[in-house]
Amino acid sequence: MTSTLVTDVAELVTNDPRLGDGSALGLLTDAALVVEGGWVAWVGPRHQAPAADASASVGGRALVPGFVDSHAHLVFAGDRSREFEARMTGTPYDGGGIATTVAATRAAPDEVLLARLRALVAEMRAQGTTTVEVKSGYGLDTAHEARSLRIAREVTDETTFLGAHVVPAGVDRRDYLDLVTGEMLAACAPHARWVDVFCEPGSPHAFDGDESREVLTAGAAVGLGVRVHGNQLTAGPGVRLAVELGAASVDHCTHLTAADVDALAGSPTVATLLPGVEFSTRSPYPDAAALLRAGVTVALASDCNPGSCFSSSMPFVIALAVRETGMSPAEALWAATAGGARALRRTDVGHLGVGARADLTVVDAPTHRHLAYRPGVPLARALDLGSAEGVS
Ligand code: NIG
Ligand code: FE
Repeated sequence: MTSTLVTDVAELVTNDPRLGDGSALGLLTDAALVVEGGWVAWVGPRHQAPAADASASVGGRALVPGFVDSHAHLVFAGDRSREFEARMTGTPYDGGGIATTVAATRAAPDEVLLARLRALVAEMRAQGTTTVEVKSGYGLDTAHEARSLRIAREVTDETTFLGAHVVPAGVDRRDYLDLVTGEMLAACAPHARWVDVFCEPGSPHAFDGDESREVLTAGAAVGLGVRVHGNQLTAGPGVRLAVELGAASVDHCTHLTAADVDALAGSPTVATLLPGVEFSTRSPYPDAAALLRAGVTVALASDCNPGSCFSSSMPFVIALAVRETGMSPAEALWAATAGGARALRRTDVGHLGVGARADLTVVDAPTHRHLAYRPGVPLARALDLGSAEGVS
């Protein structure tokens, strides 16, 4: 097995507090690491680096764990830029535009959906994302939901059944819930790791607490892990339901009561914030600082989708989280890497300790702080060790 010494790392973020400066980021300066067979085999100061078969210099840049984007909706067709335009002049977001994407997605051939999905994943990788979760939710009938998940599986194992995204137009709510928890779940579960629901009594298109519980318990009964879209538009029941059901994550968390924060604080459920959505829907931002003060595990994700946030950029999300939600640059980077890994219950990604997957993201800067300090500048990209001797 070939080993590669990755060297000339001005700052290495390991997310392993046993390494480096002892902080949560486990920072080492003037560092190196050895990659063997796609895994991190050694990490330490550059002057102590062991011999390896090959070496790759990152030229005095910062190296961070690849971003773990734990929430994205990437199997879709169509365009909703006019809806975005209308929102910027005051039309509120309520999920009603999802129907437009459903119609376009159903009409698109598999090859078109897969090509668009691959292009978005490549766009993410070019900005430093190395793990991505992909949801269904723009099919909303059995065949199209199962197809979306089959296509998503071409690019990731982190696939999520979101048949309960909205009730499709012209379908009775009760009939749709029976379909989602019955025939549709049976067809989709083999292609999914997770089940999710848009729990939002504030949207006429989405699901209330009892309906959401029904969907999630049906998914859990066939072995799917639970995740929830909750508390996006109002302080609804999503967070408390997620905690009650032991969900891996509850996502959005824009509107929280003190009881929601307390429930999260005593639980293994991660609060995943999606500040790109608040940016793209002109909404108030979540209070990450309050969650962190309470001891809640916080993740950051893109929610890349054609409606509420069509950005695939985790550096943009990090910059927003720092500017708008009260996170420090270190907290935001941790949330976009280790936090995302926890939200997906993964221990092999989101850090660069020995034994981690060698998912390396190079930041064209001396320190990770530049991710937030230089918003909109394309500094981060996933490092492809196979194709280059170094980074120029
Ligand atoms: O996470 N909130 C529900 N679903 C997506 C948006 C989907 C859409 O508008 O197309 C979200 O924001
Ligand atoms: Fe979403």
